[in-house]
Amino acid sequence: MPQASKVLDRILVLEMVRVTEAAAIAASTLTGRGDEKAADAAAVEAMRAALNELDMDGTVVIGEGERDEAPMLYIGEKVGTGQGPAIDIALDPLEGTTICAKSGPNSLAVLAIAEAGGLLNAPDVYMDKLAVGPGLPAGVIDLDRTPSQNIEAIAAAKGVRPQDIVACVLDRPRHEALIAELRALGCGVVLIGDGDVAGVIATSDPDTTIDVYMGSGGAPEGVLACAALRCVGGQFKGRLLFRNDDERARARKWGIEDLDRQYDLKELAKGDCIFAATGVTDGSLLEGVKRRRDKMTTESVVMRASSGTVRWVKGEHRIER
Ligand code: FBP
Repeated sequence: MPQASKVLDRILVLEMVRVTEAAAIAASTLTGRGDEKAADAAAVEAMRAALNELDMDGTVVIGEGERDEAPMLYIGEKVGTGQGPAIDIALDPLEGTTICAKSGPNSLAVLAIAEAGGLLNAPDVYMDKLAVGPGLPAGVIDLDRTPSQNIEAIAAAKGVRPQDIVACVLDRPRHEALIAELRALGCGVVLIGDGDVAGVIATSDPDTTIDVYMGSGGAPEGVLACAALRCVGGQFKGRLLFRNDDERARARKWGIEDLDRQYDLKELAKGDCIFAATGVTDGSLLEGVKRRRDKMTTESVVMRASSGTVRWVKGEHRIER
């Protein structure tokens, strides 16, 4: 059996792009059609078929839900031919289902892989998230501090005023107090309707002007974003948020004992890992799928934590073939 760390790069890195491309192309047939479920189902089916062509002994650790609620790409599902390295896979064939249905910005087909045990088996609950891009001193962000204290620490580390800091936050009623606190400090607040994987990754790209990502969103999306930040640099803090005992039981079922733990980037995505994404709709990270008469174009990114290599891949796909 080949060692996973040796083959992650050579065999699987570029193959991952084919997988996210397939999901993005399938979802794109339903962009702007107002049907989240159909778009998601198309992406899931295409991603699963593409994964099953790969020579690996893959296990879905973050997927479409638990076996009894998801027919495909459920947690624990084996994917790949079974020949090859043991790989854990976190996936979201369509991150931003509503965005895709409404043809808004930043919906993605996303995938992260790591050696077995490398990705936190995050249950489908909320996670409090705090992320900054690379180049800041370790420990500059901490979920045990108030949002104001975090903004002040980031501003001090960047040598700017708190009012120069721009925060990205999901536009949700639950974030009202957070948004009010940020605005009282004079910060710029970029409110996004959905898609916090792109929101977190945006902190690593100076062109977005986003300094920090704050607020709660899906825990699985948090792990996926961490795999990307491991590759491009940055810091992330996450804490699972539970609304009821059923959610706590789900976490325990996946081996999480300390339910109040503040996780660091490397605890959510550890060791070597690969992150791949293809844009479904245009966004800050990637262009979306463009469908023309005879061909479609895609834009993807694939990155690897151990080397920090980031590859941007433009694809042209003939419609007739
Ligand atoms: P879906 O692709 O499952 O629709 O998720 C979109 C998303 O915006 C995520 O990016 C985010 O983590 C989560 O939903 C936030 O959840 P909620 O919509 O419940 O606030």
